[in-house]
Amino acid sequence: MGPPGAGKGTQAKALAKRLGLAHISTGDILRQNVAGDTELGRQAKDFMNKGLLVPDELVTRMVAGRIDEPDTKNGFILDGYPRNIAQAEALDAIFKQKGINIDYVINLDTSEAVIIQRLSGRLACEGCNANYHIKNMPPKKDMLCDNCGSQLYQRIDDREETIKKRLDVYRKESALLIQHYREKNKLQQVSADEEAGTVLNKIIDLVK
Ligand code: AP5
Repeated sequence: MGPPGAGKGTQAKALAKRLGLAHISTGDILRQNVAGDTELGRQAKDFMNKGLLVPDELVTRMVAGRIDEPDTKNGFILDGYPRNIAQAEALDAIFKQKGINIDYVINLDTSEAVIIQRLSGRLACEGCNANYHIKNMPPKKDMLCDNCGSQLYQRIDDREETIKKRLDVYRKESALLIQHYREKNKLQQVSADEEAGTVLNKIIDLVK
């Protein structure tokens, strides 16, 4: 968990690779559906472009289906879900039914100045969803992905106005989750303002 730009995607991808786990990013799955103009993508697009949450039932159904795929059998990292108390309760119900336990909920604690700097310079790969940053993590070749060579682009929701909206939504909805998981004794706080490798090492120290 963490606010927009905290580094959830960056850290979850690196951690999944390191630990051999599946990485399930609701934001990435939704963007793939928007790009593919699927029914789900058409339903989600306007909410995403405005920086609002996509309705809970759509996202929860999508996550429940994704968890059933074979690559999750050794475990998985959820990135961007749950995002409010209703989604956390829906996830608890899914996990109870499947006999799955949450090991850790890692909250990436990030300052607002860092969030704005990161999001305004972010570049995403249209091929493999890798993340870059114009200054912090530039690609080797201008606007091309190091992993797959596809074109990099700036996300529509990384415009200044939409960043503010996403932060508002985070403060109102997602921040309550911190308390929810603290009460369940699952929460681990990681200060995420530092360089990506340092943050990853802190997370690995926690989970090893
Ligand atoms: P989503 O894609 O999940 O967006 P988000 O939560 O706003 O988070 P971001 O992807 O913006 O940031 P991040 O924390 O992953 O940071 P990143 O690693 O990219 O969701 C998008 C939308 O989809 C939502 O607004 C909503 O509409 C919908 N949605 C998704 N899930 C939903 C749900 N559960 N329910 C309802 N709707 C949902 O890093 C950011 C930048 O910083 C990058 O450029 C990166 O290179 C750089 N960077 C990262 N870490 C560091 C570091 N330590 N040092 C320097 N630079 C860094």
